[in-house]
Amino acid sequence: MTRRLTIFLSALLLAGSMFAQNNPSQSNAVDEAGHQWWQNAVFYEIYPRSFADSNNDGIGDLNGIDQHLDYLRWLGVDAVWISPMFPSPQVDFGYDVSDYENVDPKYGTLADMDKLVADGKSHDIKFILDFVVNHTSDKHPWFIESESSRNNPKRDWYIWRDGKNGGPPNNWTSTFGGSAWKFDPKTNQYYYHFFYAEQPDLNWRNPAVADAMYGTEAWWYKRGIAGFRLDAVDTLFEDPELKDNPVIDHKQNAFGDIEQKRIYNDKLPEVHDVLKGLRKVADQYNAVLIGETWTDNIKELEEYYGGGKEIQMPMDFMVTMVNKLSPPEFRKRIGAVEASSGWPVFVLSNHDIVRYVDRYGNGTNKDQVAKLLSAMYLTLRGTPIMYYGEEIGMENNDPKRREDVQDPIGRRGWPKEKGRDGERTPMQWNTSTNAGFCTVKPWNAVDPKYKTYNVETEKADPNSVLNWYHHVLELRHTNRALLDGDYVALNESDANVLSYLRSYKGQNVLVVLNMSSSPQKTKFDLASHGIKGTTGSTLLSTAKANQVDVNDISLEPYGVWIGEVK
Ligand code: GLC
Ligand code: CA
Repeated sequence: MTRRLTIFLSALLLAGSMFAQNNPSQSNAVDEAGHQWWQNAVFYEIYPRSFADSNNDGIGDLNGIDQHLDYLRWLGVDAVWISPMFPSPQVDFGYDVSDYENVDPKYGTLADMDKLVADGKSHDIKFILDFVVNHTSDKHPWFIESESSRNNPKRDWYIWRDGKNGGPPNNWTSTFGGSAWKFDPKTNQYYYHFFYAEQPDLNWRNPAVADAMYGTEAWWYKRGIAGFRLDAVDTLFEDPELKDNPVIDHKQNAFGDIEQKRIYNDKLPEVHDVLKGLRKVADQYNAVLIGETWTDNIKELEEYYGGGKEIQMPMDFMVTMVNKLSPPEFRKRIGAVEASSGWPVFVLSNHDIVRYVDRYGNGTNKDQVAKLLSAMYLTLRGTPIMYYGEEIGMENNDPKRREDVQDPIGRRGWPKEKGRDGERTPMQWNTSTNAGFCTVKPWNAVDPKYKTYNVETEKADPNSVLNWYHHVLELRHTNRALLDGDYVALNESDANVLSYLRSYKGQNVLVVLNMSSSPQKTKFDLASHGIKGTTGSTLLSTAKANQVDVNDISLEPYGVWIGEVK
């Protein structure tokens, strides 16, 4: 090869690799119904401390996740959201970030993260990170500079104010207890923290903060990250005049604070400017944004979609928190998000709330509740986000004594608030010591029920919760009506059985869910929906029927029937 040709070729290669770097990391292809990758994907939240511990130090890590990609693929997971794995003093177990562009040594290295993304690719699994946009750690170099003096260039990256009448600037309380202001004697001012004092709020009104955060967002997309779950977006802005919030006099919370209506520091309209900014960056990489959006009504949820310009997937916690097996209540909530302009996002459990089998179950019907509710949210129109361990029926294992609590809010609010350790226990892999998570003392106690509820044992049992999840997810991935079909509520006055049709181009799947503890009989008038036949062929059921007559379906307590009707 001539030297000139070699130079030409290597220049071409270089240009090629630069192109690859700047190229959108995800494809924006749509399926025949016009759905993008994240609309057809099943998401799975991993709390990295608790999923799998590759080096046996009692704390889960990225290599641990890597070792279980085969399991996740088998289960039917398409995208994993990893809760914060960035360097952090771990006051809030990673939600206090001290460097947004690195990995905490407890969890591994950047090289491990890159390897995970690459191995994910060969398993068809994408990774989403957790962007803690509201605040940093007080050990983040930005805050260390900011607190160093009143005229430091980073002073205005956080919310610093003078006190008032010998106290904090106003009456705002932290959601984790006490005043939301911490006094700094060195500079004689207070800084604002909606969460722990170790989590100072960023000042998003400062354009330099916005630039730095948008830069970090793009930095991860270029590394192959497919999107972000945006932490605590409701509280990005505060009223510039710092007006006092109205208090709800008669109500005291677990921390002993008088409850307040957070009208001046929660869901301010400016939040939407930031979400549009984050979305602009995401769109350059075909990335997806999932929102931690605690909305009180459907109008607020609708605002987070921002007419297609903000978060593609705001979580609908109004469905999450129905908290009783009530068909009318689910119907109402599902109907509301269905009638909105956005793509529904269903979540039943996460690292902040008690696991759903405990919230919906009565202590004795756990497997039934797991099968029933997974059959619901994994067959609705929309994207489901699972929480690690729910597929094996993991329960909360709350601390019994205050001295065992690790989550600071649990120590502060004990016994009313026990903290979140209970829903963050180590994943249960098998029957060996500590459920196969590690052989040393794990960072958080393993649920003693692991001998029965673990991946290995349940994989071998065809009736297990795990195999049920596997089947539902398989169905969801292969059935066009479940992937792309409309949602049509049926028998809307039935107080015990929740039923709906999913229909796509003449293919119809009927989902029938008995939410009551007694046997139920039900029937459907499908002719009014253009379906002539009355025989349903079973796709998945808790009973053993291959066919049913849709004019006469019998369901056992908490029974599920999913089938095709023509
Ligand atoms: C979000 C997280 C929660 C965390 C808080 C502060 O609510 O989900 O775990 O404690 O933000 O970052
Ligand atoms: Ca480890």
